[in-house]
Amino acid sequence: MDKQSIQNLCKEAEKASQNAHAPYSNFHVGAALLAKNHKIYHGCNVESSSYGLTICAERNAIAAAVVHGETEFEALAVYSSVGAAPCGACRQVIWDICHNIPVYVIDDKGHIRTYTSAEILPVPFDENKLKEAEK
Ligand code: THU
Repeated sequence: MDKQSIQNLCKEAEKASQNAHAPYSNFHVGAALLAKNHKIYHGCNVESSSYGLTICAERNAIAAAVVHGETEFEALAVYSSVGAAPCGACRQVIWDICHNIPVYVIDDKGHIRTYTSAEILPVPFDENKLKEAEK
């Protein structure tokens, strides 16, 4: 992806963080997921008073894309003030749904760190193991 497109995706993630519903942690996260057809799907964290029901920004962006029938993805950008990388649960879902894509992690100073989903989830569990067990 060219620099301009990466920066644009990161801006979209930052914008999405403004809609975060995070009254308990006050930690606002935004995600922007670019599909192969160039459409961008947004997610923010949505917290619950029953804390464990909270859904992360990344998984909300992925769900939004899946709802619209998307199956092929190009890249994911995740914004938080301190540039937090996706949590373990999100790493699993990113791998399951988006496979190996670049993951851009951005902070409020505009720093962008680049990973891949394979890099942040080494030795993954996935559908291949389930298929293997069926044999
Ligand atoms: N959070 C995300 O949205 N994504 C992550 O990958 C890490 C954590 C949210 C969940 C919760 O609302 C807040 O950040 C603090 O954990």
